[in-house]
Amino acid sequence: MSTVIKNGTIVTADLTYEADVLIENGVITEIGKGLSGNEELDATGCYVMPGGIDPHVHLEMPFMGTYSSDDFESGTRAGLAGGTTMVVDFCLPNQGESLLDAIKRWDNKSTRANCDYSFHMAVTWWGEQVFNDMQTVVQQRGINTFKHFLAYKGALMVNDDELFASFNRLSELGAIAMVHAENGDVVAELTAMLIAEGNTGPEGHAYSRPSQVEGEATNRAIMIADMAGVPLYVVHTSCEEAHEAIRRARQQGKRVWGEPLIQHLTLDEREYFVDDWDHAARRVMSPPFRDARHQESLWAGLQSGSLSVVATDHCAFTTEQKRYGVGDFSKIPNGTGGLEDRMPMLWTHGVATGRLTPNEFVAVTSTNIAKILNCYPKKGAVLVGADADLVVWDPEKEKTITAGNQQSAIDYNVFEGKHVKGLPRYTLTRGQVAVADGEIKTQEGHGKFVSRDANGTVNKALSTWKDLTAPRPVRRTGIPATGV
Ligand code: URP
Ligand code: ZN
Ligand code: ZN
Ligand code: ZN
Repeated sequence: MSTVIKNGTIVTADLTYEADVLIENGVITEIGKGLSGNEELDATGCYVMPGGIDPHVHLEMPFMGTYSSDDFESGTRAGLAGGTTMVVDFCLPNQGESLLDAIKRWDNKSTRANCDYSFHMAVTWWGEQVFNDMQTVVQQRGINTFKHFLAYKGALMVNDDELFASFNRLSELGAIAMVHAENGDVVAELTAMLIAEGNTGPEGHAYSRPSQVEGEATNRAIMIADMAGVPLYVVHTSCEEAHEAIRRARQQGKRVWGEPLIQHLTLDEREYFVDDWDHAARRVMSPPFRDARHQESLWAGLQSGSLSVVATDHCAFTTEQKRYGVGDFSKIPNGTGGLEDRMPMLWTHGVATGRLTPNEFVAVTSTNIAKILNCYPKKGAVLVGADADLVVWDPEKEKTITAGNQQSAIDYNVFEGKHVKGLPRYTLTRGQVAVADGEIKTQEGHGKFVSRDANGTVNKALSTWKDLTAPRPVRRTGIPATGV
């Protein structure tokens, strides 16, 4: 069985050209003019691009006394509907649980995925077992990225001594450190103060997490990563203070990447001040939506290259779940959706406005992260030999986003009413057509785990430099006798 995508314009992170794409057994086998196959997909007027990779999702995540409502089936279906063909979820060990037992739980949940997926490991506690398990996770389970939460005190948060120990271990193993950068101690203090003062509504969530808590924690994580000699990926970069720290670090030659979310690029804090409690609570996530001035900083970061990847942090809770926090904002489950809307929203507000080129769009939605995660060019590429995870993108197709016809399992959409222009005509997952002109043809269980090796090129360069500059004792000739 072969499929050919005909008459389209291929757009990759670095090239734009007209060619057909032949797919056999889920892999791209030929790119050129005048190709034919058993099944033909017409791409006239469309761009043929690498499918999106969303490196930050939480499907069926146990969090704040409940589970996020999109699981690997509905979450990946939503992703495919919007042109995303791979997701990376965070495996979260319980306190004291071995990392390998946690992976078993994630293996069970992910069997239902409609598209390929991978895992990041979270370091949620520290001890000899975690230290030892990390090696097995990296060398036998194909996971080379480890997230650390500097927020969520009393739950997922790790302290600086644990952070430094973990970063050192990752450096040794050739893996990448990730960080949720918000100062959890300050957030806990501010939360208690706000609630004591009667600030119990969802807007209290935004007051409790000002941009300074993110700027401070981002800078701290960058410095600690630099001392450990480990590359650092900062998730959900939402404000100028955090971006400034990342920008400065990159300019100094540090290996740091920043990941803005489509929500922070297009929505702002006014959402928390509307009269309707449900409207505001549905938008509670960490970091919170910001004053609109931060958006210009994030867009500029994508344009200049100081920010590398656009993700969603898709972590969807229903209105009923959000209402756990009536009377106390700190009990509103943190998280918003976005998997189906990331690519159309970024195209509409990025490419169609002239902020981004189509090639830059591909870079920040797919190719950059495939390289960072060390799964390029299997993913993130239109090349012979690459997986046929592709999106045939119609820049003229449009719709108004509404929860009424979304794939996500929840009952609202934070982008409700937004008009988007630029949508998939076809989405292919390893050559299988999962979306055809709005028709969803996903196959539960089609998705496979993407294993990712350690010691990518950046790790190699950094460890070479670390060896070269490691502390060495001075070999002295004349050493004075010790005092008697
Ligand atoms: O509010 C958020 N971001 N929920 C998901 C968990 C996390 O911090 O990434
Ligand atoms: Zn986070
Ligand atoms: Zn997250
Ligand atoms: Zn229109």
